[in-house]
Amino acid sequence: MTKEFELTVNGTAVRVETDPSSSLLHVLRNELDLKGARFGCGLGLCGACFVQMDGKVVASCDVPMWSAEGRTVVTVEGLEPGDGLHRVQQALIEGQAAQCGYCISGITVTAATLLETSPVPDERAVVAALDRNLCRCGVQRRVVRAVLQAGSAAAAT
Ligand code: FES
Ligand code: FES
Repeated sequence: MTKEFELTVNGTAVRVETDPSSSLLHVLRNELDLKGARFGCGLGLCGACFVQMDGKVVASCDVPMWSAEGRTVVTVEGLEPGDGLHRVQQALIEGQAAQCGYCISGITVTAATLLETSPVPDERAVVAALDRNLCRCGVQRRVVRAVLQAGSAAAAT
């Protein structure tokens, strides 16, 4: 049986009719056409589907819609208002910190969330924050450098 849910996604109020047990990730990708969050493990273990919910990083594959009602969700597409790139995205591009890119949306959401609470994190903080984001291509060192760069770029402005 389906039910209507209201939530805010990337600053816009949306209504979705779906099964209460559908995952937030399924709704984002298939109902709202936001393809940035990816399906990896489906178990909350890889980080490919990470989004912000009420300001915290969550595994959207592991959030049933009944628990997303009334929440504020930000996906990788909504991290930066307008058409520009978030400074984490800019730093990831400049540092060529992606291979296949499957993990990068989740990594970007995690890193951007870290910078909201810790604008100039040290390496240890970046590594700790990204601990739940797996990357099978092995670009972790480049990613950490890029996030550090994004932090210092913000400090310099
Ligand atoms: S797909 Fe959600 S954590 Fe892996
Ligand atoms: S760049 Fe391929 S999984 Fe991370």
